Amino acid sequence: MNKYLTTPIYYASGTPHLGHAYTTLVADCYRRYYRLTDHDVKLISGTDEHGQKIERAALAEGTDTTEFIEARSDEFQALWRTLGIDLDAFVRTTDSRHVARVLPFWQNIADKGDIYLGQYEGLYCVECEQYFTTGEECPVHRRPLETFSEESYFFRLSRYQSRLIEHIESHDDFILPRERRNEVLSLLKNSELRDLSISRTSTRWGIPVPRDNRHVMYVWIDALVSYLSALATEDFNAFWPSATHFIGKDILIFHAVYWPALLLSAEIPLPLSLKVNGWLTIEGKKIAKSDPDTIVDPVALIEEIGTDGLTYFFLKGVPFGGDVNFVRQQVYQLLNADLANNVGNLISRFVTLVQRDFSGAIDITSPVLEECDHELLAVLKDGAQEWQDAFERAEPHVAARIFAASAASINRYLQHEEPWNLIKNEENRGRVAVILLVVHSALSSLCVLGSPFVPDIIEKVRTSLCLQGDLCWSSVGAFGSQIRTRKTQSVYPRLSS
Ligand code: MSP
Repeated sequence: MNKYLTTPIYYASGTPHLGHAYTTLVADCYRRYYRLTDHDVKLISGTDEHGQKIERAALAEGTDTTEFIEARSDEFQALWRTLGIDLDAFVRTTDSRHVARVLPFWQNIADKGDIYLGQYEGLYCVECEQYFTTGEECPVHRRPLETFSEESYFFRLSRYQSRLIEHIESHDDFILPRERRNEVLSLLKNSELRDLSISRTSTRWGIPVPRDNRHVMYVWIDALVSYLSALATEDFNAFWPSATHFIGKDILIFHAVYWPALLLSAEIPLPLSLKVNGWLTIEGKKIAKSDPDTIVDPVALIEEIGTDGLTYFFLKGVPFGGDVNFVRQQVYQLLNADLANNVGNLISRFVTLVQRDFSGAIDITSPVLEECDHELLAVLKDGAQEWQDAFERAEPHVAARIFAASAASINRYLQHEEPWNLIKNEENRGRVAVILLVVHSALSSLCVLGSPFVPDIIEKVRTSLCLQGDLCWSSVGAFGSQIRTRKTQSVYPRLSS
């Protein structure tokens, strides 16, 4: 089965910050999850390089726009490389391949009779590249809205209102978490959609409208089509229908209303699902480049806590869909408690026992398991089912809790069985070997459950346990009668603040 995962394409108007890293790392975690559960996955990202916002940012810096976007786009690509995110495609909306996909998309919609020329008058936030009908300031950027009046092409969005409601109501998982779905449904049911202005004459920095190059396309039309242009033609039918867009709540309406309406008009199947994250905030304020007080450099942070640390914080420390305040001390506490203590100490204690008492290897032909041994393995097996359900419900934080709870169960089992005391009596040697086999099996399962969140740590654990080959989803909860261990460095050193 295939999965096509997309991050938003980020505005090439500023340097990437922690908020951008958040959505991308969530998508990357899902990529690992799907790979594990036997999917062929493509993950794409990119930079959004047209529009007035970009043009103004380049002007403010006194740089040529092309050079400006080149540098910003490079910064995003470099960050994804530093974070170890291996993208299948990176779209730049100024690329000719992308432009070549946008033009027929527009034409297709025009041919349906869904585009007409009119006059736009209203309020606009250039930072969001979004129109507002009322208000004095942008609710996201807290800046005054600008009054725009210009000739514009419009998309007949209003035609699609009832089909959108129908689609969302008949596809429970189209927008997750559910609160976001309800929010969109309530908007669609309680207000009449106005047609959408989809071209600009106030900027030249965009893709010219077919047959009327006085206008360039509204940057959001161009940007949304990146999800299509990122896929090679031969992959389109195989991957597009399984598309999941990972987005922040600030761009929900674009993805849950405008995008599906445009696709309906173009007669392209709608994506499978939108997974909508909340905001990372600093002292309650959204992390955004327009607010320098909120800027945390992701590269400096991963030098302190590692990419696994950052991913783990995003996935376990942030209930998906909600907002969360980034507080360094709390991040450190979470990572020390879960990764350094709960998982790290467990591995080193286990490897020490096998090395010291069995010279690093145990082999038993017909081990006899006690009830408590079966119970521990069942905890892992049952947990794995819940873990998968949680991922599917867009609750990766619940899946991460199951991983941490499973490590805690293994610790409790060891604490209860006390192999370090039993071994003092030579008669118990057989039982101790079985206990260690059970722990080893449980740890192999734990590796599967942890791999979407902390892949580097899991690699180190697997090296200590001499586990080879691909991580195997169907092996969770299974018992193996052989152990080899290798003493290695700690899997996640304690952080000191
Ligand atoms: N270019 C558009 C997206 C076009 S997609 C066809 C855009 N870009 S953006 O750079 O402003 O931000 C995109 C996304 O970055 C947000 O929707 C969100 O996913 C992520 N985030 C940016 N700041 C964030 C936080 N402070 N917290 C969480 N996510 C944040 O919008």
